Amino acid sequence: MSLRAQLRVCLIALAMMTALPVAAEYADVVLNRRSEKEGMRPVIFPHWFHRIRFRCKVCHHELGFKMRVGSNDFNMADISDGKFCGACHNGDIAWAPDRCDMCHSGIRGLPTGIVGGHETGGPGRF
Ligand code: HEC
Ligand code: HEC
Ligand code: HEC
Repeated sequence: MSLRAQLRVCLIALAMMTALPVAAEYADVVLNRRSEKEGMRPVIFPHWFHRIRFRCKVCHHELGFKMRVGSNDFNMADISDGKFCGACHNGDIAWAPDRCDMCHSGIRGLPTGIVGGHETGGPGRF
């Protein structure tokens, strides 16, 4: 294959990867108490991505997220009201809740829980 042809294959593969629903990565949290029942894909919450950007207490104290996977019972209306994820995903601190697919990106059938272990891993765990 010519370099150009190889490049094209890469670009197509990349485009497909971004278009397809993602599988959760290690230490991602899947939130699927309601989503799939209501016809949406499961939510994938990249915990690590957020942990390196915010202090734990922002979410686990100020925003009221309990530190146990699956224990937080909140819904889409809460998010639209600016609670939980919606405290930041409001078009101000982070992109707004109208970008459904950014959160509802899981493969159907993923159960609520942490991917790849019973705890969220990574350095900086206390
Ligand atoms: C910032 C992340 C985020 C975005 C963006 C988002 N959602 Fe959600 N959504 C959630 C979470 C978290 C839940 C609760 C997950 C669960 O337990 O299944 C949820 C739940 C839902 C549910 C289940 C029923 C309910 O009322 O909770 C529906 C339906 C839904 N979302 C639709 C949408 C639609 C439509 C959009 C785009 C207009 C959207 N969501 C955008 C995070 C998001
Ligand atoms: C942006 C918000 C956010 C930040 C920042 C954040 N977390 Fe979380 N954390 C969550 C959410 C959401 C869950 C999943 C809750 C659920 O499934 O109901 C979670 C779950 C957890 C869990 C439960 C894991 C398990 O095995 O049950 C632990 C422990 C945890 N977080 C620790 C931390 C620590 C330590 C930090 C800081 C280094 C941190 N979190 C920062 C939102 C956050
Ligand atoms: C404390 C603020 C905060 C909270 C709470 C929060 N997020 Fe985010 N989130 C952010 C910021 C900031 C970004 C990066 C936005 C950007 O890149 O423009 C982000 C990015 C994301 C991304 C994209 C990650 C990537 O790889 O680009 C997803 C998915 C996401 N958030 C889902 C959620 C869900 C689901 C919740 C609730 C369970 C949530 N977030 C709660 C601040 C927050």
